[in-house]
Amino acid sequence: MDWQNRIDNYVRETGFPLSLFIAGDNRVVGTWIMGNDYRVKSSYYGGYPAGYLRRIKALFPDKERTLHLFSGKVDLSVFPGDTVDINPDLKPTYIDDAQSLKSVPLEKYDLVLADPPYSIEDCERYGTSMVKRNLVMRALQRLSPDAHVVWLDQVLPMYRKDVFAPEAVIGMWKSTNHRFRGITIFRRLATRH
Ligand SMILES: C[S@@+](CC[C@H](N)C(=O)[O-])C[C@H]1O[C@@H](n2cnc3c(N)ncnc32)[C@H](O)[C@@H]1O
Repeated sequence: MDWQNRIDNYVRETGFPLSLFIAGDNRVVGTWIMGNDYRVKSSYYGGYPAGYLRRIKALFPDKERTLHLFSGKVDLSVFPGDTVDINPDLKPTYIDDAQSLKSVPLEKYDLVLADPPYSIEDCERYGTSMVKRNLVMRALQRLSPDAHVVWLDQVLPMYRKDVFAPEAVIGMWKSTNHRFRGITIFRRLATRH
């Protein structure tokens, strides 16, 4: 499925206005203004804002197996999939450290949604230590070619340019007094492990 088809499906399925465009260098760029409904349904600290999962789902109707990484209390009724979190109390499919993902058969998934803690202050809320983003991206190199990684963060993680192509970048605005965030969508290239 090419990106024009993904964008068309996004507009059709969500009913939101067109907000994603294919730029001159073939990269997809866009901005999502999340509107007034910025609440987190689960009320989990740092949880996805209302509407986020629905938007991402509409971009990837072709995907068959999704992995929610740093899953927290992700709403699986909106976006079904398996989950990974370091906190066993959250009862994820895999209790694992995203920096190694030793117990996760990554080659079985064609889509990963990653929502890491953004800062040390955020980690204090989860009782975890700060994540080394480059190690997470290194672990994700075990994905199969053409798998996509949707990474929501305030920082672009370090990644190998011969392994991942950043195909789309989307700025995300919530309401006043909330931090700006960016979504980077990587595709696993076929070239190397
Ligand atoms: C921003 S929250 C994710 C919230 C989620 N998107 C939701 O909608 O509920 C980050 C999560 O990462 C988890 N986490 C922190 N460090 C981790 C690590 N090294 N490996 C896996 N999970 C980790 C935390 O326990 C927390 O649940």
